[in-house]
Amino acid sequence: MCGIFGYVGNKTNAATIVFEGLKRLEYRGYDSWGIAVVPTASEKSKVKSEKLINTIVVKKKTGKIGNANVNDMPSSSFAFGHTRWATHGGVTQTNAHPHLDCTGRIALIHNGIFENYEGIKKTLVKKGHRFTSETDTEVAVHLIEEYRKTMALAKAVQKAFNDMAGLNAIIVIDSDRNQLIAARNGSPLVIGFGHQENFLASDAAALLPHTKQVHFLEDDEMTIVGHKGIMIFDAKTGTKIAPKVQKLTWSTRQAEKGTYPYFMLKEIHEQPDIIADISETMISPAKRMTEVIRKSQGTYLVGCGTAGYACMAGSYLFSKVAKRHVNWAVGSEFGYQLNFLTKKSLVMALSQSGETIDILESVKKAKNNGASIVALVNVLGSSLYRMADHKTLIGAGPEKAVASTKAFTAKIAYLVLLAYGLAGKTKEGQTVLMHAVSSGKKVLSSLSLARIQKLASRLKNTEHIFVVGRGISYPASLETALKIKEISYIHAEGFAAGELKHGVIALVEKDTPCIVFAPNDEAYGANLAGAMEMKARGGFIVGISHKPHEVFDYYIPVDDACEATIIPNVIVGQLLAYYLAIEKGLDPDMPRNLAKSVTVK
Ligand code: G6P
Repeated sequence: MCGIFGYVGNKTNAATIVFEGLKRLEYRGYDSWGIAVVPTASEKSKVKSEKLINTIVVKKKTGKIGNANVNDMPSSSFAFGHTRWATHGGVTQTNAHPHLDCTGRIALIHNGIFENYEGIKKTLVKKGHRFTSETDTEVAVHLIEEYRKTMALAKAVQKAFNDMAGLNAIIVIDSDRNQLIAARNGSPLVIGFGHQENFLASDAAALLPHTKQVHFLEDDEMTIVGHKGIMIFDAKTGTKIAPKVQKLTWSTRQAEKGTYPYFMLKEIHEQPDIIADISETMISPAKRMTEVIRKSQGTYLVGCGTAGYACMAGSYLFSKVAKRHVNWAVGSEFGYQLNFLTKKSLVMALSQSGETIDILESVKKAKNNGASIVALVNVLGSSLYRMADHKTLIGAGPEKAVASTKAFTAKIAYLVLLAYGLAGKTKEGQTVLMHAVSSGKKVLSSLSLARIQKLASRLKNTEHIFVVGRGISYPASLETALKIKEISYIHAEGFAAGELKHGVIALVEKDTPCIVFAPNDEAYGANLAGAMEMKARGGFIVGISHKPHEVFDYYIPVDDACEATIIPNVIVGQLLAYYLAIEKGLDPDMPRNLAKSVTVK
């Protein structure tokens, strides 16, 4: 969702530093952006106009940053910026952040939803405050302005923040002092410690070119960030808190595109190496985790979107390999069906970002019921990571394309290790993963890529695509359909192949594209039967399988990787979605309306 980047230091190009920071946050998904700077003293003195003295200079735009620049902004050592994903109020320049108070001396950016803003706005309007936008955010800056009349700025920010209902992160600047004042509850904020300069960001990866020393703000923590020092305190009580400085493990290079045209293609290609890495290096954490699962009475997997489909695949793996019943649920629904949880229950929450609000809320409720929490996340220091009793980093490296790819297969690889570990067959699990590595590499060979791209070129103008599979190929179908929808905007539906006869088949007509997963498992025959039923109604059958079959009109070979075949199978789905987007001239990294980490409900 919204990206936040703030700088205070001894450099004088703060606007550019913030602008570049926002560009690194573009992947989160946004529809407008804005930057505010407080001009340096020399800059102010150059300007005759009284108006600029003690005021903040703001630049806001709708749409993507693209080729924009901030060369027209004054030199400054102090600035902050925001990429907005609209919630309250349409996508307009006025609604973009930062928002200013009536005097133009206080600016604020915000991530989250200020749930009780309406009543507060009415009171402020009565007191004479003038609003220019339709946002909930603007209310917060006027509220601070109001409190500021009788107290110091930090106190005013603290009081206003505590008045705000909902899950929010705010950063405030004022033109009189070079300090970023911020508070969070729910929405993430990270402080970056530099030399004679400090930073604030919504996402640690955005800080990598500047520093690896960070403090992740906890819920209800507030901070004052100056260029020489940082103070952290409890937003409710005002008690001082010592920073917990952590070192980021990702490299700047990992977070860059390199020679690939898009992050998504880069991330798809990274998968075999990540899986190989997990198979070699994750044995000890997996062993510890299997003991935790073994001791629990009732294990539940929860995730949202792609992570949800990884959970679903996990339930098949645990059943088949470990003979263990593990339920799964999507994060947004789990909260309504967890009353049965007890102190012996274990909730395994899967999330790339570790910030997805539906997961965090479910996990909080599960904790209230006494359940233990296992987190499988990709981002160190993320909220879920900090909240969990047992945590594992899946080690996929920074994932920047909005549509998740490598985090999905990394989670599956880890679940494969856990399932085999529970069955007392860790070595076999490793072997199976290495089959997935070689099969994945073959899918990524130039011959195979050309085949998938040719298929995309054939399907690019289609309106609907159906994807079917049984057993673990059912979550593979759902994930493939999700990828196609997310980045090519073609309507794609994944189904359990056995459900075809119960309705879906009514939609199949001449040339309807039907993708069928038919790996070498117990569902092979039944998957082919589904393919035949669709073919009999005129469907154009795309078979993804270890061997060709006459029912396939188009065949994409995927070498068998035993219980881990879902990994190369889904890589095919990811590539098809990617090439469909390319064929349609779309940007696969930043699909419309979507955000990388969904931090609002
Ligand atoms: C968003 C992203 C998806 C992702 C989902 C869950 O919707 O666009 O790609 O699968 O959130 O994210 P998480 O970070 O919890 O895995």
